[in-house]
Amino acid sequence: MRNRRAALATTASLALTLSACGQDGEGGSDDKGGGPKGATIGISMPTKSSERWIGDGDNVVKDLRAKGYKTKLAFGQDDPDQQVSQIENMITQGVKALIIAAIDNKSMNNVLQQAADAEIPVISYDRLILGTGNVDYYASFDNTKVGELQGGYIVDKLGLKDGGKKGPFNIELFAGSNDDNNTKYFFQGAMNVLQPYIDSKRLVVRSGQTGLTQVTTLRWDGGTAQKRMDDILTSSYKRARVDAVLSPYDGISIGILSSLKSDDYGSKDKPLPVVTGQDAELASVKSIIAGEQTQTVYKDTRQLAEVASNMVDAALHGKKPEINDDKTYDNGSKVVPAYLLQPVSVDKSNYEKELVDTGYYKASDLK
Ligand code: GAL
Repeated sequence: MRNRRAALATTASLALTLSACGQDGEGGSDDKGGGPKGATIGISMPTKSSERWIGDGDNVVKDLRAKGYKTKLAFGQDDPDQQVSQIENMITQGVKALIIAAIDNKSMNNVLQQAADAEIPVISYDRLILGTGNVDYYASFDNTKVGELQGGYIVDKLGLKDGGKKGPFNIELFAGSNDDNNTKYFFQGAMNVLQPYIDSKRLVVRSGQTGLTQVTTLRWDGGTAQKRMDDILTSSYKRARVDAVLSPYDGISIGILSSLKSDDYGSKDKPLPVVTGQDAELASVKSIIAGEQTQTVYKDTRQLAEVASNMVDAALHGKKPEINDDKTYDNGSKVVPAYLLQPVSVDKSNYEKELVDTGYYKASDLK
């Protein structure tokens, strides 16, 4: 308590630091029936470099304000230290709950101890925070299913199921950031589907890079993936063609496609391989419409924001939020009660139904 009071005394000077850290979204309204009057909720998102997190931040702010809360929103610019200090500042400023999508899922122990000391409930948003009991709830999608949709799409598209004769096909594998807990779920989900075909040699990974540690992409960076694809094309595809690339995320898919195109894939005699993705980011949906990226996994972040906001609202009213999974997400310290939403596979054949008819994008956004 003493620390907390001392910390509160420095609030005014911290306001400056906060704006210097790129914190925004401050504001809100009186209690409109829901939030304890005047309560401010801290929202910590990983980066603005990917459009989905900007959308997530906006949606969470909107939902919380509609419930009568004020909000403080910060983006960590993919720097775990910066994210932790932004959260510390929020705690010091007296936020009543935290919604956090962690950059490094193991970096939160100390700051979440401060949150616990101040009795602030913590919602782990999209990505599970590991190694601390001070996480109250987890709002996410069925992350294994995301990978299964990606792997399953490749199997269908290559016609591997039809009569069991097609192939062998060449495939390369990419995974997400090794400090994001989702990475292993996505990869495992995809490999659940792909591994039997790799074992039977109907899918061949010519680079030989099949272990998770060999295929991760730090901070989900598209440029890093592009470079790795360049290296693989040079080392393993001088006399062969790649038929499919498992990509876990749209930003990585765009990097992979740049690499492929600079090696003449997409020209008349050298078709682009099947390339998966995730997040239905605008650039990737346009790429799908243009016939380059093949697929993405759509996760309606409006629903995710709503789930997280409802969790905050319930927790602050001393109620148990709605949970639909209390087994899957063990963070090493406890099994975190979760609400998991369903992801949807999207390609050229259903993007209008899934993305335009649902209002996620306007038809004009996709022109
Ligand atoms: C993951 C998230 C994915 C994707 C990726 C890169 O944690 O679940 O949907 O956004 O980060 O930002």
